[in-house]
Amino acid sequence: MNYLSINDIDSLHDWVQEAISIKKDPLKYHTLGKDKSIGLLFFNSSLRTRLSTQKAALNLGLNPIVMNFSNEGWALEFEDGTIMDQGKSEHVKEAAQVISQYCDIIAIRAFALLEDKEKDQAEEVLQNFKKYASVPIVNMESSVGHPLQALADAITLAEYNQKKSPKVVLSWAPHPKALPHAVANSFVEMMQLQDAEFVITHPKGYELDPEITKNSKIEYNQEEAFKNADFIYVKNWSSFSDYGHIISKDKNWMIDQQKMNLTNNAKFMHCLPVRRNVIVTDEVLDGENSLVIEQANNRTYAAQLVLKKILENE
Ligand code: CP
Repeated sequence: MNYLSINDIDSLHDWVQEAISIKKDPLKYHTLGKDKSIGLLFFNSSLRTRLSTQKAALNLGLNPIVMNFSNEGWALEFEDGTIMDQGKSEHVKEAAQVISQYCDIIAIRAFALLEDKEKDQAEEVLQNFKKYASVPIVNMESSVGHPLQALADAITLAEYNQKKSPKVVLSWAPHPKALPHAVANSFVEMMQLQDAEFVITHPKGYELDPEITKNSKIEYNQEEAFKNADFIYVKNWSSFSDYGHIISKDKNWMIDQQKMNLTNNAKFMHCLPVRRNVIVTDEVLDGENSLVIEQANNRTYAAQLVLKKILENE
């Protein structure tokens, strides 16, 4: 079993309920991973994913081995048939097979480079490890998706939702750097599995991949979208059509209390890290409706559920 995308969840409802029960008794399965190890391979920075996945592994008795490829590993080549006479020292073909001998599960973080849409869409790093590794692979944020984050978000929504069909709004907000689409993509895919009134709001030109958004409602007027919302989930992403470019830094899209006042006393969600007073004001982020710290807490139980399922399948 791999956990590469939201599509690997067979029943979101059952997974969320199981994660909530794990949260109540996190050490219940503390021997499940005994004498096994998980390799956590980071091609990019992380705080939550790195520590929560390690914590989840430790709760299952699984030994985490962490490697930062960005500054410690050999630079990897992913193209087949390349003459490797430039900067890349090792091919993923050998690396994946070698790591599979040391680790029973491999988890990978490799962001979109936002330079070549086709390459990013092909999830070069994740898919090549999947191709050459002989152990299960977990996506800790690839170029296209962040399914561990979306699973944690689903857990948080379930914990705080009080309605059969809440209104959930995914809102774009400005950011000084061009960011990938992975968090927004997986959130959209996860919401499409929920009983909810789901709305995406962003300036024109920031449409996500239509193959992911499918029939999800898009409202270009942020204030209109916020009306009667029960949850506001905020994230920046760069343009998908004008791939990887920033086409607006409109500060009017920042989330402030005035906009939150349009909602049905909505909870505020963000995956973190977040830039204060760029994406969201201090007042909203520090307010009693902000769920960001609990979302980060739920990253442990999302990861623990996924690792438990993989260990039980082996
Ligand atoms: N939300 C999230 O994935 O956080 P990190 O980038 O710190 O891991």
